[in-house]
Amino acid sequence: MDARVTVPAIRSHKVADGGAPLVMVTAYDTPSARMVDEAGADLILVGDSLGMVVLGHDNTLGVGVPELAHHTAAVARASPRALLVADMPWLSYHRDRGDTVGNAGVLVRAGAAAVKLEGGRSRVSMVEALTDAQIPVMGHLGLTPQSVHVMGGFRVQAREEETAAALVDDARALVDAGAFAIVIEGVPAEVAAEVTGAVAVPTIGIGAGRHCDGQVLVFHDLLGLQDQLAPRFVRRYAELKAEGVKALAAFASDVRSGAFPTDTESYHRSRPGG
Ligand code: KIV
Repeated sequence: MDARVTVPAIRSHKVADGGAPLVMVTAYDTPSARMVDEAGADLILVGDSLGMVVLGHDNTLGVGVPELAHHTAAVARASPRALLVADMPWLSYHRDRGDTVGNAGVLVRAGAAAVKLEGGRSRVSMVEALTDAQIPVMGHLGLTPQSVHVMGGFRVQAREEETAAALVDDARALVDAGAFAIVIEGVPAEVAAEVTGAVAVPTIGIGAGRHCDGQVLVFHDLLGLQDQLAPRFVRRYAELKAEGVKALAAFASDVRSGAFPTDTESYHRSRPGG
């Protein structure tokens, strides 16, 4: 079996140095983690997208540390080769450094090797506190879903020169504070390319074009398990919701017609003397 993916291996992985782009996919439970790991992903993210794609919320603000820890533990039970990163949910790293380290510790104890948090220069003190506590941190810049109300919706960010320059400064600040990788979401491809060139750690894009050091997609989007949102950056590699509904309807039809279960799908009494 291949050795597990480590934080130092990810930290030094840049496409400009000849590395293949990193692959990160979200997972929220043991079977999805097994699938992502068997597919050969480098990183598994237990994202707070959990709230939207699994728990039925309209945004990511409805989940807290207990939910993230519960699902991180389920993913960890798959014992993946991929590096397991857990999202720090909204308000779990905004109050003070002690609270932030405590919350991240819960996720690490649940099985995460690293945590991800949203925001740039305003988060430097928290990133330093986590790094100081030996908890590796992945940053997340651009369209940061926990800021949905401030952004006025899930909108592409850093389209103007000034906001693009601020994004590059944010990325540098996160790396200086100790971040080992940065997710860049929902920004123009040119801006993501600039960030990628400006920092020594890998950038992992989602809706940020091809010039990042890796790409991430949400499990349910990639596999077509949800059909409510269809952002342009999602490529659906399967239509599993439609397939699943078809299979479930076939089961319902077989039950109603008496075609399921058959004799061979049933247990029978032992034969006397058998
Ligand atoms: O929560 C999540 O799934 C994420 C990814 C979209 C990067 O943060």
